[in-house]
Amino acid sequence: RGLRVADRGFLNTAVIESSITYIDGEKGVLRYRGYPIEQLAEKSTFIECAYLLIYGALPTRSQLVHFEREVLLHGIMHADAKEFFGAFRYDAHPMAMLTSAFAYLGSYYGEANPSLQGQTLYTKCAKGDSEAFQNMDKQIFRLIGKATTLAAMAYRVRQGREFVVPPTGMSYTESFLYQLDHLSPTDSFSASPSTSPSPYKPHPVLARALDILFILHADHEMNASSTTVLQTGSSLPDPYSAVAAGCASLYGPLHGGANEAVIRMLVAIGSPENVPAYLAAVKRREKVLSGFGHRVYKTSDPRSFIIRKIADEVFAVTGPDPLLDTAMALHDAALKDEYFVSRKLGPNVDFWSGLIYRAMGFPMDFFPVLFVVPRVVGWVAHWRQMMLSPEGVKIWRPKQIYIGPSERPYVAVDERE
Ligand code: CMC
Repeated sequence: RGLRVADRGFLNTAVIESSITYIDGEKGVLRYRGYPIEQLAEKSTFIECAYLLIYGALPTRSQLVHFEREVLLHGIMHADAKEFFGAFRYDAHPMAMLTSAFAYLGSYYGEANPSLQGQTLYTKCAKGDSEAFQNMDKQIFRLIGKATTLAAMAYRVRQGREFVVPPTGMSYTESFLYQLDHLSPTDSFSASPSTSPSPYKPHPVLARALDILFILHADHEMNASSTTVLQTGSSLPDPYSAVAAGCASLYGPLHGGANEAVIRMLVAIGSPENVPAYLAAVKRREKVLSGFGHRVYKTSDPRSFIIRKIADEVFAVTGPDPLLDTAMALHDAALKDEYFVSRKLGPNVDFWSGLIYRAMGFPMDFFPVLFVVPRVVGWVAHWRQMMLSPEGVKIWRPKQIYIGPSERPYVAVDERE
């Protein structure tokens, strides 16, 4: 009552108070728990940033060791998961598999299941019950640890290859690359049957590049998928179901699917001389300039500068991508074009990330998965914060403005015109 204008796209609606990530979209500032993203990308690791985002402070050495060990330990999947992945079509999109797999995970853990005791668990956490906290931590370790395992399973099942048990003695990102047993252009070994132990050793430059990309993708405050996780989580299902919902949201080409869309766009453009024609089609609204624009940044996305640098380091190892010239021409032309300048459209995190993943040898439809794996950290950080909120969780139930017919009598089927 009294509501006249819907806030389409939530342009003016703050749904939560948060102390996790700070963004100043006008100045191009991004901070995790107060730490500038540039410093974290240079000096930190993904697993340390994960701890920071979830628990609010940089870990001590022993906290870091404990956290990393727990996350990696919980990477191991039940053997039944083999049948689960085997049930998909041979050409299923990895995001469809991963989204389903997160929901499937929830079926294993009764202690997180709201119909058993989930709701009580979170109420106990909010009251400071230490056993309940440990229980909540366990779900968090599982989600982060198993994200790599499930992603690797979705990758390998498409290739008809056996699954790899997460290794020991490697970092989170190295373990992920190992589980993918990924054939990058710099691997020297031939495509051997992938029985464990694998001969694959992640290239240190590529492993660090992926770790930095994971840091950059770990959180971005109320993006569409994090909002979805909280919206779903607000009715108190298990966190696996909430993360599955977030994964589905990220799949879209306006969000996490944009890195895949950028490469499809560059392939379609073909070469630098076709750039003006493509930009003209964008201006006629027949095409989208994927990898440009952002709801929050009205200047360049600060992550895009860091990614541009990583791209050079990766290309020095893998050799440059043939699409790079087209990407550069498109990037430079858009930044000089009045249409994009006046709308404050700059390159976002996805403009360069797809080229890096491509150079590393990943298939295009796996790119959004490489976004999901680190973003699980942001999702669980927001979910935990909401669950522990001193005011308790309030179900997210927005309003609408009804514009349909007013009351009218039912007409029997034979009497309808
Ligand atoms: N290509 C062409 N025009 C664009 C683009 C674009 N990529 N992005 C925005 N615009 C135009 C838009 O049409 C509007 O023009 P007008 O005012 O004349 O109607 C104007 O710029 C303002 O845009 P908006 O509609 O207010 O933007 P939004 O905040 O609703 O959408 C966005 C943000 C990211 C969905 C959009 O910029 C977009 O579709 N970008 C391409 C997809 C993409 O790269 N997504 C990844 C985002 S970063 C990673 C992530 O969060 O997942």
